[in-house]
Amino acid sequence: MFPVAGLGTRFLPATKTVPKEMLPIVDKPLIQYAVDEAIEAGCDTLVFVTNRYKHAVADYFDKAYELEQKLERAGKQEQLEVVRHVLPEGVRAIFVTQAEALGLGHAVLCAKAVIGDEPFAVLLPDDLIWNRDGDGALKQMADLAEQAGASVIATQEVPRDKTASYGIVATEAFEGRSGTITGIVEKPAPAEAPSTLAVVGRYVLSPRIFELLEATRPGAGGEIQLTDAISALLAEEPALAYRFKGTRFDCGTHIGLINATIRFALDHEKLSEPARRMMTDALTELGVRDSD
Ligand code: G1P
Repeated sequence: MFPVAGLGTRFLPATKTVPKEMLPIVDKPLIQYAVDEAIEAGCDTLVFVTNRYKHAVADYFDKAYELEQKLERAGKQEQLEVVRHVLPEGVRAIFVTQAEALGLGHAVLCAKAVIGDEPFAVLLPDDLIWNRDGDGALKQMADLAEQAGASVIATQEVPRDKTASYGIVATEAFEGRSGTITGIVEKPAPAEAPSTLAVVGRYVLSPRIFELLEATRPGAGGEIQLTDAISALLAEEPALAYRFKGTRFDCGTHIGLINATIRFALDHEKLSEPARRMMTDALTELGVRDSD
């Protein structure tokens, strides 16, 4: 499940017409990275919770008949494969509208009728997680959830002065990369935070969360918070905090989006060399780096 109903005001004016999930990181829109990660983890039904103004995400995952025909006739096989691979065969996309922007918890609840009574994943596309040489974060979490029979939430250490931007967990001692969550609170002030272990945008959740969300009243920021429903879940079922292998880029911020762009460009098959040269030149020009 992908919550994509946000207005993306931080990226105005670009997001006046382009949803932030469609902003590109090198050659793919942000949403494609999260979708690829979900598919790799074994998801075959993708539920997008969107709003009534944002058709670009649905259009993007729709089949592009005319474009495909043109590419086929022109013998542009490579591009044809790229366009077709946006959604591989056997994977379906379902779009649900969130009528009012009442919070992340409410967005998840909007997917209830489609997801039904089985464990599911929530991916926040703003958090781009890159594990270059191994399994994606969600695959790591899905394996752990299956093996432990528990919900699993991705976490990462953050500086204490940043706790008010995240859900923060309290846990029992970690065994390897995971620890049982004993408490979770949405965006606590640094002095009130139970730890500095922050929730990042990947969750594998028990379907029991839906009933708990139905009973969840508005919390931090006046919104229905997923964090509050998870807090209620802890009284009934185990949930694990998981320190994933990989690097997280916070693409909900300008600098995070720029960082991801630079790192992916430097790793790109065709762009790596020119990107490296361009960055070296720019830093030399600015006097940040001595010329060779
Ligand atoms: C949401 C969640 C928060 C989590 C964060 C991760 O907050 O409510 O618990 O730590 O995503 O990116 P948002 O960033 O949407 O305000």
